[in-house]
Amino acid sequence: MFKLGRNDKCWCGSGKKYKACHERSDEEILRPLMDQGYPMPGRELILTPEQIEGVRKSAKVSVSIMDALEDFVKEGVTTNQINTLVDTMTREAGGIPAPLNYEGFPKSVCTSVNDVICHGIPDDTPLKSGDIINVDVTTILDGYYSDMSRMYMIGDVSDEARRLVEVTKQCMDEGIKCIKPYMPVGNIGNTIHDIADENGYSVVRALCGHGVGLDFHSDPVVNHFRTNRKTMILVPGMMITVEPMINAGAYDCEILDDDWTVVTKDGSLSAQWEHTVLITEDGYEIITK
Ligand code: MF3
Ligand code: CO
Ligand code: CO
Repeated sequence: MFKLGRNDKCWCGSGKKYKACHERSDEEILRPLMDQGYPMPGRELILTPEQIEGVRKSAKVSVSIMDALEDFVKEGVTTNQINTLVDTMTREAGGIPAPLNYEGFPKSVCTSVNDVICHGIPDDTPLKSGDIINVDVTTILDGYYSDMSRMYMIGDVSDEARRLVEVTKQCMDEGIKCIKPYMPVGNIGNTIHDIADENGYSVVRALCGHGVGLDFHSDPVVNHFRTNRKTMILVPGMMITVEPMINAGAYDCEILDDDWTVVTKDGSLSAQWEHTVLITEDGYEIITK
């Protein structure tokens, strides 16, 4: 970011010369942070306005699928039927479901029920009243990735399960709301961890949010737990996910023999919500809205 000549085009993709664009703010804001030892993003993590448009279009597909699932996901429906709906809607929109064959993942969507934290594989088990399920959709459209997930509650859900789902949503929402450009990405996890603590829940540590847009998973690592380490500075044009996984019991995980399904070690319930978020000059924009 600092290797630019003053007459080169700015890193932000505005098309303006560096000296007329971000040079000054880089010197005043970023340079001191860099001197304090905060990692800086590489230029490849900053999307151009055209690329941002591409992710927006991809996100429209993801959102339309999640919206369709609001009515579709109910008692008696199998997670394989959810998989078929996601796969069909993605392809009808001209997209590709990113999970399919990703590092060997066998299906087009992740469906994580009750004590499954994430990466649940769709199967023929029907959903039953009282279940809570996370459906995680990632669409590739024209090469651009959008990643989002929501929780769905099936029939009569216990007060405790409902509270976990709602608090986890609050964790995601507040984790996003605290985003400001030029802050360390670790502030997101600090915010989320406080809310989980206040509610007697734990934050999963083994899995994290990530950069997204041009790839499925890129830098920065977006942890959802507290840290006092110096984490990467967020700058306008970066695209990340915020996707806290919150457990009713302890944070420890286990991976099942299918090599994918991540469950809580103590069998307690787990919930997750996810948005793709753009860092802007004023703050943030939720792209998967
Ligand atoms: N969508 C998940 C995430 O939020 C990743 C799923 S990887 C898969 O990062 F292979 F399980 F699909
Ligand atoms: Co993600
Ligand atoms: Co996801």
